Order: sequence, then structure tokens, then C-alpha cells
Amino acid sequence: MEALRPRVEQLTDDLLDGLSGTVDLLESFAVPLPIQVICELLGVPPEDRADFRAWTTVMTAPAATAAALERRREVAGLFTGYLAGVVAERRADPRDDLISAMVQARDGDAALTDPELLNTIALLLIAGHDTTVNLIGNGVLALLRAPDQLELLRSRPDLLPAAVEELLRFDGPIERASQRIALEDMEIAGVRVPRGAWVHVSLGAAGHDPAVFDDPGKLDVARTPNRHVAFGHGVHFCLGAPLARLEGQVAIGALLARFPGLALAVPPTELRRHREGSIVRGLVNLPVRL
Ligand code: HEM
Repeated sequence: MEALRPRVEQLTDDLLDGLSGTVDLLESFAVPLPIQVICELLGVPPEDRADFRAWTTVMTAPAATAAALERRREVAGLFTGYLAGVVAERRADPRDDLISAMVQARDGDAALTDPELLNTIALLLIAGHDTTVNLIGNGVLALLRAPDQLELLRSRPDLLPAAVEELLRFDGPIERASQRIALEDMEIAGVRVPRGAWVHVSLGAAGHDPAVFDDPGKLDVARTPNRHVAFGHGVHFCLGAPLARLEGQVAIGALLARFPGLALAVPPTELRRHREGSIVRGLVNLPVRL
């Protein structure tokens, strides 16, 4: 991941070069940066990225009606159909990208099967899209609303890694982990959880647990230790955490360094969170004056 840093910095600078005046920081910066990075890493051509964004939005939205489920199935079909084409191309003509590496990967004689390949690539693309976007969006908003912390971070860029951890804790991109199923009867905080019950773990609530964090409602960019669980915990701990951390540090660091007057362009009450019911926690837009 560290080898990627110069390229992430370059993509960040190119995007920031195009910005001036008042912009929606999500559409102009927080959305395109992670998409460009993950697509480049995997080897997805730039001209196909708009489709990816549209497909991902459908596939991560809650599907509570038959029509929404149908739409999701349809989009999943388009998505895997498209990826199958890319995999076939890389198999015939490998390049220096992750899809080619996955096509060629062998464990002894065993290679990844086509369904394994397609599902892994789809997971990386989806997981790599909507999460880091909201680390940047939610993170910049949290800083703008805590001017003392913003100033501290501007004057001490060495705090960036700690600040990104704190932003993940304070208002992380994933509200809930995927469902778990209790393997045995248990009791958690006085609540009986019977064997076989579905359990939803709120990562956001864990990050605000007063038994673990002093003054959890306060943003503290120098907070250490910071045992948040924004990337999950255990065997399913986020595979992309090092990439997300790198992108968050580079993006937020560059933004603050380049725009000393960065400010919200609307009152905070006018900002809206998107997609109620989704496990993704993010803003619809983030208008800022650069
Ligand atoms: C700030 C950004 C990110 C956050 C907050 C985040 C959060 C999470 C969380 C909470 C989980 C665990 C879910 C569970 O246990 O139910 C997870 C898993 C995962 N994440 Fe991320 N993620 C981020 C970025 C990324 C990126 C950039 C990638 C890919 C490049 C990625 C790939 C994955 C994958 C593949 C898994 C599944 C791991 C497994 O089940 O073994 N994530 N992520």
C-alpha cells in the first residue's frame, strides 16, 4: 500500500487542481478519488467507471420491496456480466493489475474458479467505492464543525494518521457490521441472545462507548489509544483498511494544506444523510467554499 502513496497523491492533486470557488466536495473529490484508485488497482478502464458508480449505488442500497430486489438482481447480473468480460480479456492478455494477478494466482495446482474471481472482484469494487468516500465526506464535515481540531491538525500534519482514526471512530462510513448469528445462547449487556438469533452490531455505537472512550462525543484528533471498530473485528476485519487509511490521510491532508479558508457553504442543518436503512453512513452532498 505504501508503494501506492505517490500515485494516490498524484490523483488527489489532479482532482484538487480542477477545483475552485464553491463546490460539492463529494461529487468533485470524495467520490472520484477512491473510485479512481480502486479501478486503477484492479485494472478497470476509466470509461467504464460511471457505470460502476451507478451499479454500486443500487447494490448497496437497502432492498426492502420486491421491485427493489428485482432491480438489484438485474444490476448484479449486469455487473458480473461486465466483469466476466474483463476477466476473459486479462486471461488472454495479462497486464500489470490486480485482476490479472488474481487470474494468474495459484495455490499449488488450484486457481480461483470463475465464480470466486468474479465475486472477489465485485466485493473489492463495491467495498472500495462507498466507504472511503464517506471517510472523506464525514471526516471533513466533522473537522469543519470542530474548528479547534481543524486548526490543530493544520498546524500539526504529523497528527494525520491519528486524526483519520479519530474520524473513523467519530462518524465512520459503516454503521453496522454484516449480520452475525449466535452459535450458542448468551447474554450481552443484560440482553438474552438465544442460539440462532441474528445479531446486528453497531460499529458506530461501539465507537461512542463511554466505557472505552473518554468524552466520546468530542472529536479529538490526537486521541490515543483509539480502539474503534470502524473496520470491523476478527476474521472479517476489513481487507481494505490499509488502502482506506492511506487515501484518507492523503486526501484530507492535501485538502487542508491547499485550502486554508475551507468552510461549509450551507448551514449544517441543511446537510442530509443518505439512504436511510443502508449500512453505509454518509452525506448526500457537502457544499463547501474552498
Ligand atoms: C474507510 C473505508 C472503509 C471502511 C470504514 C470499511 C469497513 C469495513 C468493515 C466494517 C468490514 C467488516 C464487515 C463485517 O465484519 O461485517 C469490512 C470488510 C471488508 N472490506 Fe472494508 N472498509 C473500508 C474500505 C475498504 C476498501 C477500500 C476495500 C477494498 C479495497 C475494502 C474491502 C473490504 C473487504 C474485501 C471486506 C471483507 C473482509 C472479509 O469478510 O474477510 N474495504 N470493511
